[in-house]
Amino acid sequence: MAKAKTIYVCDKCGYESPKWFGKCPVCGEWNSAKEFSLKDHSETKSIRANEAGMEAPHPRFFDINSATKLLEEERIKTGINSIDELLSGGLIKGQVILLGGEPGVGKSTIALQICDSIARNSNNDKRIYYISGEESVGQVGLRAKRLGINNEKLLISSETQIEDILNEIDPNKAQLIVVDSIQTLCSVDIDSPVGGIVQIKAVVEKVRIFSKKYGIPSILIAHVTKEGTIAGPKLVEHVVDTVIYFEGERTTDYRILRVQKNRYGPSGEITVFQMTSNGLQGLSEDTFLTYSNTPGNIFTSIYEGTRPFNVQIQALVSRVKMTSGRRISHGVDVRKVIIISAVLSKHLNLPLDFHDIYMNVSGGVNITDPGCELAIAGAILSSFLDAYIGNVFMAGEIGLDGSIRPAVNIQKRVENAKKLPIDLIVIPKASIKNTNVKSTQNIKIETVDNIRQLFN
Ligand code: TYD
Ligand code: MG
Repeated sequence: MAKAKTIYVCDKCGYESPKWFGKCPVCGEWNSAKEFSLKDHSETKSIRANEAGMEAPHPRFFDINSATKLLEEERIKTGINSIDELLSGGLIKGQVILLGGEPGVGKSTIALQICDSIARNSNNDKRIYYISGEESVGQVGLRAKRLGINNEKLLISSETQIEDILNEIDPNKAQLIVVDSIQTLCSVDIDSPVGGIVQIKAVVEKVRIFSKKYGIPSILIAHVTKEGTIAGPKLVEHVVDTVIYFEGERTTDYRILRVQKNRYGPSGEITVFQMTSNGLQGLSEDTFLTYSNTPGNIFTSIYEGTRPFNVQIQALVSRVKMTSGRRISHGVDVRKVIIISAVLSKHLNLPLDFHDIYMNVSGGVNITDPGCELAIAGAILSSFLDAYIGNVFMAGEIGLDGSIRPAVNIQKRVENAKKLPIDLIVIPKASIKNTNVKSTQNIKIETVDNIRQLFN
């Protein structure tokens, strides 16, 4: 058995040090150092071995073909189509999922729906354990009643001490464990406030080890604020297998779930739900798209997972007197808007500096995919010129020299865009070489090389 290793962790920012510190050298907080003991070192090692399907703890080499087979296990389908797609087919034995989002966004609701769906779809007598430190057993029961959930395989507890809880779970009987939320549970080993970083780390580590040891998937719910200021969940992302966040605006009923990390499938997958009186219902990706004959609207797609996701970019460009124009953006990094408007100003000789530019993405989706840059430029130009150019889809990247460059997976983006009632698709000229995209009777495809051509 390896010797227990003690480290000190700042309870405010998560800074780790092998030595005790009075003042955190990173965030400057006094007396925030908490002792954190990694007793589980040897256990982690045996879990790794166990995961690899061998008797612990003799490290061994596998040939690549048998290594490939180790993860070709059957997935446990949740039975909720959009969740299964998000998880590349379902849950894997021992998979640890972090499910984050703002309070009230629907984390507990979707978790309970997943539990119910798995319970209904499995024809074994295995149990699903839902640990609710957040709400009492009665409150969870009430929510379950509202959702029409009454499966006896679903067991609820509102205990908050992780060791007690894990002792109560029969590893041979458990099919899934849900912890709601990691900020409300605590470990006996840790002497620091519940919800603090050190407790969160300890709780996550205990559940993770249990999950891996017995091959039981677990969903760990975490509260995150809009600014992501609660550092806790962020600091455990690296120890879990999969990270899924709710994003988008809470002011509507629509909810977007996005996979930020996945060790068992591609990340970047997005799916849309609507909060209804019967819980969260899966929706088609085109839910947020609107068709109006006003300037400044361009369709594009995000391609971060295995499939494109259609979105709509809206720009409003309005002239200002005296001061230089502001750039305000939701869904697109404002620095991207500044760069693209600078490129347009410079290469097209447009007075955008004397205009405010407001940018928005439908449904509150966040875009980082550079393939959306052409659409951003198109939306700015359309609004600046006050010109409605029909329902147009654009995909491509923009260089500082005003060149328009290929976006990845243009073929699939175009195929997906053709499902929309659009008139025109604009893509980079260079993209046409490697694809066989063709105009149809209703949808024309045009190619551009640089923003001058786009403007024209
Ligand atoms: P919840 O899942 O409790 O959010 P979280 O766990 O992320 O804090 O969702 C809370 C909101 O969802 C709450 O405002 C009520 C609403 N809701 C519905 O509209 N329909 C439903 O069927 C349920 C269960 C909740
Ligand atoms: Mg909740």
